Order: sequence, then structure tokens, then C-alpha cells
Amino acid sequence: MTRRLAHLSDPHWGRRWLPGAADALRAFLLDRRPDLVAVSGDLTQRAKVREFAAARRYFDALGLPCLAVPGNHDVPLYRLHERLLAPHANWRRHFGTDLEPAYADPELAVFGLCTAHPFTLTEGRVTAEQVARLEHAILRTSPSQFTVLVLHHPLLQADPTDRDRTLRGAERLVRMFGRVKVDLVLSGHFHHRMMVNLQEAWPRLPRPVHQVFAPTACTERGRKKDRGRTGVVMVETEPTGFTVEFHYLEGREYRREASHSFVRGPHG
Ligand SMILES: [Fe+2]
Ligand SMILES: [Fe+2]
Repeated sequence: MTRRLAHLSDPHWGRRWLPGAADALRAFLLDRRPDLVAVSGDLTQRAKVREFAAARRYFDALGLPCLAVPGNHDVPLYRLHERLLAPHANWRRHFGTDLEPAYADPELAVFGLCTAHPFTLTEGRVTAEQVARLEHAILRTSPSQFTVLVLHHPLLQADPTDRDRTLRGAERLVRMFGRVKVDLVLSGHFHHRMMVNLQEAWPRLPRPVHQVFAPTACTERGRKKDRGRTGVVMVETEPTGFTVEFHYLEGREYRREASHSFVRGPHG
């Protein structure tokens, strides 16, 4: 049976948030009615209560199953006391105490991973403990479940000349991909679209693991080829294969701009 997942990222409620894009996105999602909306972090610009409250209202009004993980902007940057003592307090108040929520049905298993932490400015981190917990959870999935990981920070730099660091501990995750089946990795942070087979960077991976970098959902902060643009990713999976589509807002409508199709092998 077909499963549909919408992936959006970096909406950045706060300054330079685009209400028109958010309205259009709502209409698009309500028309498509995905089985799950996965949000890969940076819901806010400055981790303020009013920004989280606006995001919460938006997803509540949407009325679709939603799974969200924090990004670096969801941890206070300047409120140092809060940053060090309770970095996720505002997130927890609005999006629940579990920073790594999961979703499962007979054909889809989605795991959130929190890579935002208080000690650095933009880069993410994944610890050995987090990887062990995630591996344990993935081992309990069935071969028929399409297994998706949602995290804010990509495992790779978008461009080797970028000064942006990405994810400390990425190697740990990649080693885990060699032991358990992960079909797709959804991330954001860079505010421009990319689709990468992690096997190209880590040739020892026994099977392809594709990572999606989503464009920003509704802020002016698009970068590189997505400067000034907003978009959403739609993933459709069937027992034999899956498709990843990038849709961009043009005027008041979304247009599909790119589509990638993949075969699911005997291990997913
Ligand atoms: Fe962002
Ligand atoms: Fe970010």
C-alpha cells in the first residue's frame, strides 16, 4: 500500500517568516493529505515562546499527524542562562517532552533524532547513546516498514567550501546504517535542496542510503539556488520503490520541480 510523507524544514517562525507561503503550504498539505508531516527543525528563529506558540497553532490547525525535531535555532542563542540550563524548555512546552518522537504503521517507521544542543552555535551533534537507542528501535521494525530518519543537521556538508560545520558524530550514524536498515534520511538546516546518496561519501556502506536536504518551508532565508524560494518535499513509498519530489511555491501554487525514483531492495 502507498504511504505518503510530507517533509518540511526550517519554517523559522519569527522575523522574515512568510505568512503567504505558510498559508499556501497549509492548502497544499490539506489537498495532499499525507500520512505524516515530518518537520526537520528550525521551527523558530530565536526559540521564543511566541514563535513556538505560533508554530504549534499552525500544526494543530492543520490536523494531520505531525512529527517534529528541534534545530539549532530552536535553542536560545543569546539567552545564555536558558541556553545552558534548559535549552529545550520552550520546545518541550509546545511540542512535548520527547525530543525524539517516532511514528509507526505497518508500512512506515519514522524516527526523530535531536541534533540541536546548547554548546555550539550552528552545528549539530549526535552522541553514542543516541545512536545506540535509535539502533535498538530500528532493530524492532519489520522488513516491510520503510524506515525514515528525521534530523535537522545533514550528515554531509552541502559544499566542501562551506564553512558551515554540520553534524559531529555523523560517522557513528553512518556505521549504524551499515548494521541496520535505514531507507531515507530527511534533514534541513542549509535552506536549499539537495539529494545525496551517502554511499558516495562512505563507499563501505552496504546499501544506498539517500539523504534529502529540504528547502526552507516559509521564510525569506532560502540560500544558493533556493534563494528567495520556499518549498516542500513529498515522499511516496510502495513495497517496490519510493519517490522523492521537490515542490516549490510559485505565486500561490506549488509546482513540482524535481522527482527522484528509487527501487527498494530485499532489505528495504
Ligand atoms: Fe534554518
Ligand atoms: Fe539550522
